[in-house]
Amino acid sequence: MRMTVIGTGYLGATHAACMAELGHEVLGVDVDAAKIEALQAGKVPFFEPGLPEVLERNIEAGRLSFTTEYTEAAEFAKVHFLGVGTPQRHGSYAADMTYVKAVITDLVPKLTGENLILGKSTVPVGTAAELQDMANELAPAGTTVEIAWNPEFLREGYAVKDTITPDRIVLGVQDGGRAEEVAREIYAQPLAGGTPFITTDLQTAELVKVSANAFLATKISFINAVSEICEIAGADVTQLADAIGYDDRIGRKFLGAGLGFGGGCLPKDIRAFMARAGELGADQALTFLREVDAINMRRRDRVVDLAKASFAGSLLGHRVTVLGCAFKPNSDDVRDSPALSVAGSLSLAGAAVTVYDPEGMANAKKVFPTLNYAPDCESALRDAELVILATEWKEFKELDPAAAGELVSRRHIIDGRNVLDVEAWQTAGWTLDALGRSL
Ligand code: UGA
Repeated sequence: MRMTVIGTGYLGATHAACMAELGHEVLGVDVDAAKIEALQAGKVPFFEPGLPEVLERNIEAGRLSFTTEYTEAAEFAKVHFLGVGTPQRHGSYAADMTYVKAVITDLVPKLTGENLILGKSTVPVGTAAELQDMANELAPAGTTVEIAWNPEFLREGYAVKDTITPDRIVLGVQDGGRAEEVAREIYAQPLAGGTPFITTDLQTAELVKVSANAFLATKISFINAVSEICEIAGADVTQLADAIGYDDRIGRKFLGAGLGFGGGCLPKDIRAFMARAGELGADQALTFLREVDAINMRRRDRVVDLAKASFAGSLLGHRVTVLGCAFKPNSDDVRDSPALSVAGSLSLAGAAVTVYDPEGMANAKKVFPTLNYAPDCESALRDAELVILATEWKEFKELDPAAAGELVSRRHIIDGRNVLDVEAWQTAGWTLDALGRSL
């Protein structure tokens, strides 16, 4: 099938490449000429394992190309995926819908015949219906535009797998439309492999996405709240999480206590969800998400406090190495990164901070140019008086405590993600602090 994917950020670039991988003819569209040029040259402008290969393979096969021109998009296909960003609006909790609306305004007047727009962006409930009204107004005479919503659940770091073999496909449709038939053809391969397909109305599909992210954020903050109690009571949050996780109604996933969640999705999505609830007159329904957000932010403060305490209350002039600045491993994304937030706070409190991350440093430098970035882990550790493990990259989890001990000037580490083998590190002469545990 021929289709376009409008917006070639994380979601759109992945979706375009993966739809081509499923055998479709795909045109990726973005207003950012530099991004389109890179993609057309087979370069993924962010770190995502496996994606460069899929991109290159499909460009070479002639199934995938890119453009900045909406006219070309309108001529190319009758099915358009909308995958532009919905960032947090400046000075507000709400989502900024400028880019989503701009797609409708720019694309629809150029369309002819019968068209389907499948929304993938994470949007406040009610958006699809609003976009349908806009499209009806903007469509040239004789042109029809149907809007359906097909939320995306991909995780950074697993984006290709999550797109080609998703754990479910959700589609919000309108009565009498042909979106379901088209989507079944687009996703024929995963559907044949048994992926559940859930058809709903537009508003349910929109809410499924934000509810999923709100639940995940709540689960992380739940264990991090318990973590605060564990710290005072002298209990161990990792053993506690293992023990409650065996109950399959609870499950161990997303009970990783530590520095908490960040990234371009969870934080802004829970805030936009609260904002939308308020607009709908259901202010109280989601006030607990304020707590979820606050618990999450307190973990960052806690690590800074532990760092201060390790220097008898003052960070001034002390050499601190922060391992990791990406918001999670296998990503170069530093948006709302807990690791970078800690590194920045320590630096502002007077510490001499050195950061090392296998992939995230180029992006981190743009946000925090004043930190010292080391070229590799070994140079980052050299002479450090305190090490903080802030993003659980494999390289950091597998650090040899004896070899690391030879490099630093003081063997003290804060395990911000509860991933280190405490006994091994203690045996190698290190003292450890961890979140939710008394070591
Ligand atoms: C999240 C969702 O998991 C995806 O399903 C969704 O599609 C995506 O947002 C989105 O809305 O686009 P992602 O932001 O890639 O995906 O990252 P996650 O894997 O969910 O991790 C989010 C944060 O939670 C990270 O900072 C991670 O370090 C943290 N986390 C995760 C914990 O602190 N503890 C855990 O146990 C798990």
